[in-house]
Amino acid sequence: MTPTHLYIYWIKISNKKGEKMLRGNEIKPAEGKLGVMLVGLGAVSTTFVAGVQAIKKGISEPFGSVTQMSTIRLGKRTENRTPLIKDFVPLANLEDLEFMAWDIFEYDAYESALKAGVLEKELLDKIEPELRSLKPQKAVFNNNYVKKLHGTYVKTGINKMDLAQQLMDDIKRFQEINNCSRLVMAWAASTEVYLESDPVHNTLESFEQGLRDNHPAIAPSMIYAYAALQMGVPFLNGAPNLNLEIPALRKLAEEKKVPVAGKDFKTGQTLMKTIIAPGLKARMLGIHGWFSTNILGNRDGEVLDDPESFKTKEVSKLSVLETILEPEKYPQLYKNLYHKVRINYYPPRGDNKESWDNIDIFGWLGYPMQIKINFLCRDSILAAPVLLDLILFIDLAQRCNMSGVQEWLSFFWKSPMTAPGLYPENDLFIQQMKMKNTLRYMMKEDLITHLGLEYYNEM
Ligand SMILES: NC(=O)c1ccc[n+]([C@@H]2O[C@H](COP(=O)([O-])OP(=O)(O)OC[C@H]3O[C@@H](n4cnc5c(N)ncnc54)[C@H](O)[C@@H]3O)[C@@H](O)[C@H]2O)c1
Repeated sequence: MTPTHLYIYWIKISNKKGEKMLRGNEIKPAEGKLGVMLVGLGAVSTTFVAGVQAIKKGISEPFGSVTQMSTIRLGKRTENRTPLIKDFVPLANLEDLEFMAWDIFEYDAYESALKAGVLEKELLDKIEPELRSLKPQKAVFNNNYVKKLHGTYVKTGINKMDLAQQLMDDIKRFQEINNCSRLVMAWAASTEVYLESDPVHNTLESFEQGLRDNHPAIAPSMIYAYAALQMGVPFLNGAPNLNLEIPALRKLAEEKKVPVAGKDFKTGQTLMKTIIAPGLKARMLGIHGWFSTNILGNRDGEVLDDPESFKTKEVSKLSVLETILEPEKYPQLYKNLYHKVRINYYPPRGDNKESWDNIDIFGWLGYPMQIKINFLCRDSILAAPVLLDLILFIDLAQRCNMSGVQEWLSFFWKSPMTAPGLYPENDLFIQQMKMKNTLRYMMKEDLITHLGLEYYNEM
């Protein structure tokens, strides 16, 4: 099999439990409104919603958004066919997005955005009515899973199944009132404490019994995902929480034929890692150590100040280098790599995170060199376009009848989900190629291998 055949085969098997994948003009059109349901109305969600409203009003351009700004090459380089992705595949228009949210605090999106401190008041004032109209619903929350927060705007119920039912009622109401033809749910709420998989997660039956028994291994994020999948709504997991990868939820996604994707938005320091590490590896430069530290002062930083929530994040951040560098294949270069990640809560910085990376590398004859990166980044400014792209792409996947884990969206995740037993691809550029080839496949265009011999053979 050629790489192209292998790739087509991968798409076919990754979709084997769903219906036939729809391609080209078979893809269901993006007609009507797309309801976007955000779990958590904090820094990322408000920066995303405010950005969409500002772009719709012509206040800004959609910088950072692949769906809105990136082009895709089709056919040979000599054909000069490079449409914008949004003109190539049938995506929902920004005008057709309707928002709803859940949060443990009652602040509307305007108040919450002011508190998050990412965007300036002057900008928020220009879109105040749109933001004011986004008022959250009461959340499903339990302080045992996010120790640093004490929310008051929280649902009560006889058990976790009852809470899931209440979420499904919220979903139905939102869809009816806003006349949405399709929905997507995204977890952009706080990182929950580290949870190991538990037998209760193993089957849908044991999970549903666990919901009725208030089993402690079922976290609020799983209750939201369960509610979404039961309603046939695609779910995105923006945090590193154990969630969609548990067998019960995977099974439910397959049974309901719903696409899902996760986890943990790829922004900031990890984005840099997935840009730089593949380059060092491509040139066969060794790495002795990679020390990463951050200061950040937003609520996310406060939540991550709790060691149990930090552990969830740490596992997600650490796994990236392993899968890019493949120390088992290159023991001389990466076997002894010492990788350390630290996050320090430092309130004066707010959302304007600062990260430092010290990378101790070595080259020819083992001579050592160092790389220092000081990234003064804005986490939510990087996360918001990622959230937009994921929402538009997973809605597209659903209209193509694609279901289960959408590995072609790895590009956007710190810890990409894969089929069971398959290692994740973390190299940003391989992820980008996979994403663009999937879009070409959807639209029945030739996949691009970058072989390019034809340019020379024909001369
Ligand atoms: N900002 C980034 O670049 C980035 C990158 C990767 C992942 N993330 C993850 O995205 C999530 C959101 O980040 P943020 O910066 O917006 O954080 P944030 O603290 O500003 O917002 C999270 C919101 O979720 C609410 N919340 C907590 N538990 C909830 C629940 N059970 N139901 C509903 N609402 C709940 C909180 O009250 C808060 O308003 C975090 O888990 C973070 O780790 C963020």
